[in-house]
Amino acid sequence: SRPPIIAPSILASDFSKLGEEVRAIEAAGADWVHVDVMDGHFVPNITIGPDVVKALRPHSKLPFDVHLMIAPADPYLEAFRQAGADLISIHPEAGPHLNRSLKQIRKLGAKAGVVFNPSTLPETIEWMMDEVDHILVMSINPGFGGQSFMTSQLRKIERLRGMIEKERRPIELEVDGGVTPETARLCVDAGATALVAGTAVFRGGPAAYADNIRALRGG
Ligand code: DX5
Ligand code: ZN
Repeated sequence: SRPPIIAPSILASDFSKLGEEVRAIEAAGADWVHVDVMDGHFVPNITIGPDVVKALRPHSKLPFDVHLMIAPADPYLEAFRQAGADLISIHPEAGPHLNRSLKQIRKLGAKAGVVFNPSTLPETIEWMMDEVDHILVMSINPGFGGQSFMTSQLRKIERLRGMIEKERRPIELEVDGGVTPETARLCVDAGATALVAGTAVFRGGPAAYADNIRALRGG
C-alpha cells in the first residue's frame, strides 16, 4: 500500500524563523504542512492565527493542513481559507452544527475534516460521512506537542477505517499526537493513511528533517 502522508506540525518548529522551517520540511520530503491553531479557550494554549498562515503561504507549495482548536470556529473559516488553508479540520465540540460547518468549509473550496478528541465517539460522523474529506484522530489531548501516544486510540482508528471502507471514496485517515517511528507503524497497521508529527520531525534541527521524515514513513 501507499506510504503514509507525512504532515509535520510546525508547532514544534522554531517560531522565530517559521518561513525557513516550512521551506526546510518541504525540501526534506514532507507531504503536507500541519498548522495547529489554538485559542486559549478550546485548548489551554495560544498559537497561530490566519495572518501567520497568510505570511507562510508563499514559502511552500505543499498543502496547508490547518487544525483548528478554536471555539467557535465558524467565524474564522473564511479567513483561514483566504490565508491559504487547503485542508481545514474542526472539532465537533467547537460548535453546535458540525454538519453546517463542514458544508461551509467545502463551499469555501477547502477539504473538510473532523477531529476526534480521545473521548469523541466514531459515531459522531456516522450520518455525515459524505460531508468529510479527511478524518483526524487525536492520540493525545490537544493543546501541546511532546506528549505520549495513547494506544487506546488505535481501536478508534480501526473503527474509522471500517467506516471509510464502506464509503468507496478516498477519505484520508490522519493521526495526531505522540507519533514516532514506532507508533507510526501501529497507526498505519490500524488503517491510518496520514501522520502528523511535531517532535519526531523537528528534533535534531534542519539537518535531521529528511531522516526523521523517512523514519516516520517506515524507512
Ligand atoms: C497538539 C497538536 C499536534 C502537536 C503534535 O494539540 O494538534 O499537532 O503538534 O505534536 P507531537 O508530534 O510532538 O506530539
Ligand atoms: Zn494538530
